[in-house]
Amino acid sequence: MNILITGGSGFVGQHLCPALARRGHEITVLTRQPRKAAARLPDTVTLVDDLDAIAADTRFDAVINLAGEGIADRRWSESRKQALLDSRVGVTEALGELFGRLSHKPPLLISGSAVGFYGDAGNAELTESAPAARREFTYLLCDAWEQAARDVAKQHGTRLCVLRIGVVLGRGGGMLGRLLPVYRLGLGAQLGDGSQWFSWIHVDDLVALILRCLDTPAASGVYNAVAPEPVPHGRFHSTLAARCRRPGFMRVPAWPLRLGLGEMSVLLLGGQKVVPRRLLDQGFVFSHPTLDAALDEILSA
Ligand SMILES: NC(=O)c1ccc[n+]([C@@H]2O[C@H](COP(=O)([O-])OP(=O)(O)OC[C@H]3O[C@@H](n4cnc5c(N)ncnc54)[C@H](OP(=O)(O)O)[C@@H]3O)[C@@H](O)[C@H]2O)c1
Repeated sequence: MNILITGGSGFVGQHLCPALARRGHEITVLTRQPRKAAARLPDTVTLVDDLDAIAADTRFDAVINLAGEGIADRRWSESRKQALLDSRVGVTEALGELFGRLSHKPPLLISGSAVGFYGDAGNAELTESAPAARREFTYLLCDAWEQAARDVAKQHGTRLCVLRIGVVLGRGGGMLGRLLPVYRLGLGAQLGDGSQWFSWIHVDDLVALILRCLDTPAASGVYNAVAPEPVPHGRFHSTLAARCRRPGFMRVPAWPLRLGLGEMSVLLLGGQKVVPRRLLDQGFVFSHPTLDAALDEILSA
């Protein structure tokens, strides 16, 4: 297949592109920083820094849309929130323009979203049909991103898979890339009372899900891209501390996080108990279904 990926230079893309290349797919990645991307991706990947550089007669069998500014990279000022929104909706709308220009319309769009779609949802079990528990910023962001993808798919008769992704765990980046050095120093802490739900997925399973969307013509609609075992944050914290052979008694109360991070503190103190209902019903087999199995694999290297 000939596949276009936006945001393919990121943490997920760095696991996805080699897996696609190994299967013989041709890959084009949209990136703002081709040199940096070239150092991270297989040599066979074609890099473009502008969708306008893609010729109108190019045939893409699928487009995978992962571009977006990091949600936890900086405090959420109004301008930061706009940048988070623009980087996702803007790139998706630009894809719509590309689809309009291409003489052969790509038959499949796999587009990112996140479990933040559901807002801070307490203990409710969230399947794909659950509405957002709170219409906070993460909901507004994911909803706008999903809607933009839906508009592109509808206008061009394209099959659409929307992935509401949980926190992606894997080697070489993502949240664990930030946490592991801290936990290895014994400085990892439980945040708040630890009861907030943490929905996660091993990056290998996310890659397998994307491959499944490519290979399965019947796959479409929204998928909760999470492992079947969400855990309360306190359990995640104690498991990670134990795996790093460090004590897990440190606690950071909620109030300084709220004070320091403002609205963004919901990323740490809020949570969602998300269930991959549609994947389980459709027989998807997770390679790393439990947190213990996922951390075993990641920390074994
Ligand atoms: N990792 C997670 O735990 C997680 C969880 C839920 C959802 N997601 C979503 O899944 C997607 C992929 O995740 P990831 O961890 O691979 O993200 P990542 O490492 O932050 O990579 C995202 C990529 O998006 C591109 N990008 C960033 N800002 C952009 C902008 N303003 N305009 C255009 N492109 C921009 C960057 O590529 P260039 O610098 O090469 O242009 C970057 O490499 C993200 O959109 C993220 O929101 C991730």
